[in-house]
Amino acid sequence: MIVAIDGPAGSGKGTVTKLISQRMELINLDTGATYRCVAVSVLDNNLKVEEEDKIAALLDDIKIEFKKEDEKDKVFLNDVDVTERIRSKEVSKIVSFVSGITEVRLHMADLQRKMAEGKDVIMEGRDIGTYVFPNADVKIYLDADVTVRAKRRYKENLEKGIDMTYEEVLDNIVKRDENDKNKKLGALKKADDAVFIDTTDMTIEEVADKIEYIIKEKIK
Ligand code: DC
Repeated sequence: MIVAIDGPAGSGKGTVTKLISQRMELINLDTGATYRCVAVSVLDNNLKVEEEDKIAALLDDIKIEFKKEDEKDKVFLNDVDVTERIRSKEVSKIVSFVSGITEVRLHMADLQRKMAEGKDVIMEGRDIGTYVFPNADVKIYLDADVTVRAKRRYKENLEKGIDMTYEEVLDNIVKRDENDKNKKLGALKKADDAVFIDTTDMTIEEVADKIEYIIKEKIK
């Protein structure tokens, strides 16, 4: 079974996906983390986001793995734990541009499909219901008021010790929204058959309950 959860940064998709994956024993695949890993490689190789050919040439040497260690979800890039680093300010600044490169998208979408093969998964991203798995069993699109999304992400960053002001977070989200919605391939967009949920005034539990109900109705 494939459950696709798409939506912009701060819409609640990460937290809600984690919660539902625990409640319903679905494997959680955070597709944004795969793009963030490519962004780490771009930084490590001192490349600029405009150097698209050089970035494309890195792709075959990038190994990304999601593992559970001590009950925690970890992300490994070429066997190095990058779980924290992929959330850094430097990575957040360039990731949307890196993920806009067509070769990167084709490569990552392939990888994401392979990661899901033969499994029951809940995948969060921007283009899961529209491009990666257009035949997903359940499609959800989450959104919320941009200032609410920025406040959520700011609070999350504080808890993780990521040093960004509220203004920086808001600016980053506005720029990423704009760039993500205008990608040539796999742009951020609600699939026609996705259920739209506005999470502005909802708690995570309320959103998770609603999605759990939709999934259960589907598999009944
Ligand atoms: O969900 P996130 O903030 O970790 O995603 C990071 C970036 O990756 C986001 O700006 C857009 C991109 N992304 C994408 O283009 N397609 C996806 N399926 C997931 C993320």
